[in-house]
Amino acid sequence: MNDAPPAIDIRSLRVDYGDFVAVDDLTLSVPPREVFGLVGPNGAGKTSTFRVLTTLMEPTYGEVILDGVDVLEDLESARRIIGYMPDLAPVPSDLKVWEFLDFHAAAYGLGNRSQRRERVAECLEEVSLTDQAGKWCKELSRGQTQRVVLAKTPLHRPRVLILDEPASGLDPLARRDLRNALRKLADAGATVFVSSHILSELAEMCSSLCVMNRGKLLASGTVDQVRHQLGSTERVLTATLLARHGEAGEWLSSQPAVHDLKITGQQVIFGFSGDDEAQADLMEGILALGIRMRAFEEKRSSFEDILVEVAENNRHA
Ligand SMILES: Nc1ncnc2c1ncn2[C@@H]1O[C@H](COP(=O)(O)OP(=O)(O)OP(=O)(O)O)[C@@H](O)[C@H]1O
Ligand SMILES: [Mg+2]
Repeated sequence: MNDAPPAIDIRSLRVDYGDFVAVDDLTLSVPPREVFGLVGPNGAGKTSTFRVLTTLMEPTYGEVILDGVDVLEDLESARRIIGYMPDLAPVPSDLKVWEFLDFHAAAYGLGNRSQRRERVAECLEEVSLTDQAGKWCKELSRGQTQRVVLAKTPLHRPRVLILDEPASGLDPLARRDLRNALRKLADAGATVFVSSHILSELAEMCSSLCVMNRGKLLASGTVDQVRHQLGSTERVLTATLLARHGEAGEWLSSQPAVHDLKITGQQVIFGFSGDDEAQADLMEGILALGIRMRAFEEKRSSFEDILVEVAENNRHA
């Protein structure tokens, strides 16, 4: 476990747009050197949270401490330690790729011309864009543009990187580069906070993550902890029977927590929301009917399914 003070410390954060509560009492802390994920559907409040963290917006109330700096009190220090990649990254103007990065390096006061060039080259290399350095920014594809912005984010060696859906528009190879680049940044001492709609994408690159929906934090921790906190005990069970499928299906359908049962070939497949004991009872029940069972399999619903379920429940709440 990591006992160091958190690199990202958000306390009771609230963001209102008029009467609308976009971020509702968000309290969250992220230990240093983590690649930490924020997952949530459209409108969950991810970008609003990030805009406060990156000093672009004042919250209604709450506190944000990044790497020991109070972001709402000391904007200037905060901006020096933060690297932000916005969700809709501004398309660079009439500059070549390296000029765009050099311009930002100069704005951050990163040494003389040759030191800047070296740093720009390093950052381009990280996102496999070295061969595009001389291209006009306006001539880049969407994914390439995304990578230019990605190369710009760590330019000034920020202690905390905040990336809003950085993987959107990237091909699988570029996603792998992104994962490696974020891991490397964290290994070098930075803390990375990264958002996505797609959990599997975050699960691949993050050590821990949190789930937000309709402005509220629903769960936080490792993937397994989050699954547990979301209370998903839902699984899909398959009984492969040698005979009497209809009879087994009828009996199963009458049992509590069994739903959506269907029979295909030898298999009786159904959703089950009971606990382990109840599941063992089901197996025993089928055997007690004298039905010959060849296999009994369990598949947890995917994390993606759980999130859809959570978002749906919230939508109807
Ligand atoms: N400037 C604004 N004025 C009014 N409402 C806003 C404003 N910006 C965001 N909202 C509302 O706040 C909620 C949260 O928006 P936010 O952009 O933070 O969500 P998000 O999680 O980033 O969503 P997405 O996945 O679509 O990017 C949404 O319901 C949105 O309509
Ligand atoms: Mg957003």
